[in-house]
Amino acid sequence: MMSLLQVSKYLPITAQLTFTVILETFEPSATHATHVTAGCSSTLTMTEPHVHTKVDIGQVIKDSRDANNLDYGEDSWAEYDVPYASRYDIDVTMPRSGLPQKGIEAKVAYQLLHDELELDGNPNMNLASFVHTWVPDECKRLMHENLSKNLSDQDEYPASTEIHDRCIEMIGGLWNAPKGKSKIRGTACTGSSEAIMLGGLAMKRHWQAKMKAAGKDIHKPGPNIVMGAEAQVALEKFASYFEVETRLVPVTAESHYVMDPKVAMKYVDENTIGVFVILGSTYTGEFENVKGMSDLLDEYEAKTGHHVPIHVDAASGGFVAPFAFPKLEWDFRLPRVCSINASGHKYGASLVGVGWIVWRLPDLLPKNMVFELHYLGETDYSFNLNFSRPAHPILGQMFNFINLGMEGYKRVVAADLVKARILSRALEGSGYFVCLSNIHKPVNVDTTLGKVKHDLKIDDDKPEYYHAGLPVVAFRFTDDIKQKYPHLKQAWVQSQLRAIGWIVPNYCLPPAVDTVEVLRVVIRESFSGNLLSKLVHDIVVVTEMLLADAGPSPSMAAMDHIDKAIRSAPGKANFDSNTQTGQGDKGKGKKAGYPC
Ligand SMILES: Cc1ncc(COP(=O)(O)O)c(C=O)c1O
Repeated sequence: MMSLLQVSKYLPITAQLTFTVILETFEPSATHATHVTAGCSSTLTMTEPHVHTKVDIGQVIKDSRDANNLDYGEDSWAEYDVPYASRYDIDVTMPRSGLPQKGIEAKVAYQLLHDELELDGNPNMNLASFVHTWVPDECKRLMHENLSKNLSDQDEYPASTEIHDRCIEMIGGLWNAPKGKSKIRGTACTGSSEAIMLGGLAMKRHWQAKMKAAGKDIHKPGPNIVMGAEAQVALEKFASYFEVETRLVPVTAESHYVMDPKVAMKYVDENTIGVFVILGSTYTGEFENVKGMSDLLDEYEAKTGHHVPIHVDAASGGFVAPFAFPKLEWDFRLPRVCSINASGHKYGASLVGVGWIVWRLPDLLPKNMVFELHYLGETDYSFNLNFSRPAHPILGQMFNFINLGMEGYKRVVAADLVKARILSRALEGSGYFVCLSNIHKPVNVDTTLGKVKHDLKIDDDKPEYYHAGLPVVAFRFTDDIKQKYPHLKQAWVQSQLRAIGWIVPNYCLPPAVDTVEVLRVVIRESFSGNLLSKLVHDIVVVTEMLLADAGPSPSMAAMDHIDKAIRSAPGKANFDSNTQTGQGDKGKGKKAGYPC
């Protein structure tokens, strides 16, 4: 087992200290675990009461204060607390929590928060997130210039509104929305989650109208929605918030850990408001088969007369598939696809705060979801969950659309996929790992014989030569390593990489396959080839150190304990009572921590 001494050469001072605290952390609470995910070194600096250490950290710090400083309440800033205090005129009695009576100078407020925020992880090394972390300076300038504009003030900011509407037209075109007389219907959202709520709600309203028109009960047994068990939390949130029964289709290794349309059909009935189809899975990046699902629902409709629409959750894939896999039919080319969401802040290449939903035809957005607003003599329309929202993320989105264009997006996504393939092959080449993601596996190539099937030209740097999916690498220890080192925990790789600065999550796959743990890397535009080489190097070094002494040392055992807490963290593991898992076990299901 790698000792703390061995590890220490990689660690910043704060992280080394954190390790020592973790060593003493025997009963970490779930909330503590959340902090560990958010930032390793925060364990030491933030003395939350819910961290169960043998030592009462708060007390130890309190007892360590100079006698002269004891007058300051525990909950107040003291002069020595504020960095650069001697340079600023500060009121040292400001409370730490609770709104201060009197404010502090802007410079001091900035410095305090700026310094504290340095404890966050480095966004570029955050390989856990799909959310884009870089835009050109010109994009930042544009966003900055428009920070104070509210997109809901449509009359006051007509240019922003116009740019929003043009984004919708561009996205509708990208997703092959039929061209009609009326404008494409859609809206900007805070992210895909809000968009999913709107897409799901529209399907629920259509189903209700259909049932009422047929004189049928809409309450007993009530509506249900079908989705793969690997669904991101936003999809389950929709069902829970809008009181729709969740029908989770179990996933298996054979279905590449995503919903198999044939299995999904077992969960569809007259009360199914729609099927959420995911492009691609948050767990592995695998695309679900939208065309396959659509064909089976066509057959079902022909037999039963029940029309079951599809909403595609293309949170990440909506800005990957059109550029990398243009022939893949997943969008409005399929008439059954009634709405699609995507996160502009993922592969749309914008900074956090923008998602999109577009309906195939204006009529598919139910009229009772659209509010008419009469301000300043004009009529505006609103169909979001939020009213006010910042205009600048939408302006950032348009910046990307016109700065990159089709060609630019194609280059970005193709480069992401190249890097994802190198990482996949390097990890497998090390002999320690096997990938569950498939984007490095050629299609139409008989890999067993090493021969090209059909008449396919060798074009091995083109996305379409490979299995379609997101630029994501999901990997685990090989069976051989697991057998030889039964005590070795894969989560330790995450912990050790975190200590170096890499954020690479280790989590369990969805119910029914949740005995499988995967590490996952999301490749984004900002990830360079040099960083990729460094990452491969660090993963291999960390793994070899762990293999060198794979027994659980106290430090690693403590981390394992924390890791378990992460996986069972409340709020991440809740299954509400209207969830039906694939095994038919109604009620409380077991759910691995959601990757984000
Ligand atoms: C498949 C999928 N759907 C929905 C979401 C939620 O997206 P957002 O964070 O933009 O709300 C995510 C986020 O990772 C996702 O991967």
